[in-house]
Amino acid sequence: MDQVSNIDKQKLPKHIAIIMDGNGRWAKEHGKPRVFGHQNGVKSVREVTEASAELGIQYLTLYAFSTENWSRPAFEVNALMGLLVETIRKEIKTLNDNDIRLQAIGDIDQLPKKSRKALLEGIENTKENKRMTLVLALNYSSRWEIKEAIKKIISDHDTGKLGKADLSDEVIHSYLSTKDIPDPELLIRTSGEHRISNFLLWQIAYSELYFTDIYWPEFRKAHLYEAIINYQNRERRFGKISEQLPL
Ligand code: FPP
Repeated sequence: MDQVSNIDKQKLPKHIAIIMDGNGRWAKEHGKPRVFGHQNGVKSVREVTEASAELGIQYLTLYAFSTENWSRPAFEVNALMGLLVETIRKEIKTLNDNDIRLQAIGDIDQLPKKSRKALLEGIENTKENKRMTLVLALNYSSRWEIKEAIKKIISDHDTGKLGKADLSDEVIHSYLSTKDIPDPELLIRTSGEHRISNFLLWQIAYSELYFTDIYWPEFRKAHLYEAIINYQNRERRFGKISEQLPL
């Protein structure tokens, strides 16, 4: 029996988030420049997007560029931005053919003009698609997002739109860039690093974390299936005890 048939379609996570890591180390192991790793990482993006849509995952969020990534050498930053533009332009048709909607979270206004344009075109051209939402976290960091949310909350408080007593988890969620997206049930990080790196800190309060040693450019459908099966074998208690959970 292949792995995919071990997945319980009734217990799929609605939202999977992935910290794609290890492109540079993978390239180095192959005696190639770091950019070669990012180029091959795009193949994994394609595989995982396809596998997620086929399974019936509703949201897939990929951490593509963090606010901290600007401090990498200019050559690498430019290559990553170029790859982003190229990939979005190339893949719009496939996204539409597969009924996948593109969205982004992060400080998009600060992206280079060309990248922002390609991204906004991709979002506009796929906005009617319904099968799955692919969310790219670009120029994103969780602390940036939380800071922005606090600024808006203070401003709405000052104008009388929001009272202190109104502040619930749901209201805070509505001020985040993920306001229209459910929290991820499963967060995957590749490359053997066991860190969250400023990614979706509010949203992963109850997420199951899955770490794999596989470098991102080697991540294939089978690795995603493995992560989902692992997730499905865990008991999610949300602070309760086992006996209180529905059978
Ligand atoms: C982490 O590996 C990867 C990134 C910072 C960028 C991920 C980008 C891509 C896969 C390509 C473009 C993506 C899209 C969505 C078009 P690393 O460079 O930190 O690797 P290292 O930890 O081994 O140095």
